[in-house]
Amino acid sequence: MPDIIVSDDGAVRTLRMNRPEKKNALTLSMYEGMAEAIEGAAARDDLRCLLIVGHETGFCAGNDIGDFVEMTTSGALGAPILRFLHALNRSEKPLVAAVAGRAVGVGTTMLLHCDHVVAAEDAMLSTPFVALGLVPEAASSLIAPRLMGHARAFELLVMGRPLTATAAKAAGIVNTVVAAAELESAALAAAREIAALPPHAVAASRRLMRGAQAQIDGHIEAEAEAFRKRLVSPEAKAAFAAFLNKKK
Ligand code: COA
Repeated sequence: MPDIIVSDDGAVRTLRMNRPEKKNALTLSMYEGMAEAIEGAAARDDLRCLLIVGHETGFCAGNDIGDFVEMTTSGALGAPILRFLHALNRSEKPLVAAVAGRAVGVGTTMLLHCDHVVAAEDAMLSTPFVALGLVPEAASSLIAPRLMGHARAFELLVMGRPLTATAAKAAGIVNTVVAAAELESAALAAAREIAALPPHAVAASRRLMRGAQAQIDGHIEAEAEAFRKRLVSPEAKAAFAAFLNKKK
């Protein structure tokens, strides 16, 4: 099975992260697959909504930390990561997500680009960037303070305190919290509801609501610049080694 499964059903394209044995930690090829699926939908008039799902045991454990270690020697932030983040920002199709279990790092920040998020009761969102010696990414340092105010965004992005599904709803990231067994059907129903609306009116409304795409693109790049510097820092290297050695 591929680690990103893309399937089209009527007007809804589903992107499923499928690396459950690693809690859906994203590798460069997975970012590539997600970016391709989002970009590829742009040219398809028949596709009107994208649905991002993970696994029932975990939405996404963030960037693969082994890949981070490789980046510390290459000094480059993988191009597929930036491609994916820009694809999220530039998507003209509405984005819906279904989150169960842990959503860590980019697993949480990708949700800030979604138009509608359904969470299972056991969902837990967290962004331990700073504890890893890193800085926030995906324009989360711009979008999260706008969404929930500086103090709550600081708690999430800098202090790394997790948000339960209910807290994520209160913070404005999550729309609905449902029982785990109902998660995918509820998210699919929301995606179909959006897909049934007049698509050009949806696209125009989204553009008006999301603010300047160029500003978000610029912020993604500025964060990436800071992220590259942090990746090779002693703080980050020590944190990656601690994670990778934890079970040895
Ligand atoms: N990168 C690489 N491998 C990861 C990973 C990541 N981000 N997240 C999980 N894994 C791997 C674990 O090393 C483990 O591999 P193993 O079975 O070969 O030992 C496997 O996935 C299962 O993870 P495990 O930690 O045993 O599951 P858990 O249910 O106890 O905890 C998490 C789940 C998500 C809380 C925990 O794995 C975690 O904290 N992951 C790191 C998250 C992170 O910091 N991401 C980067 C954000 S910027």
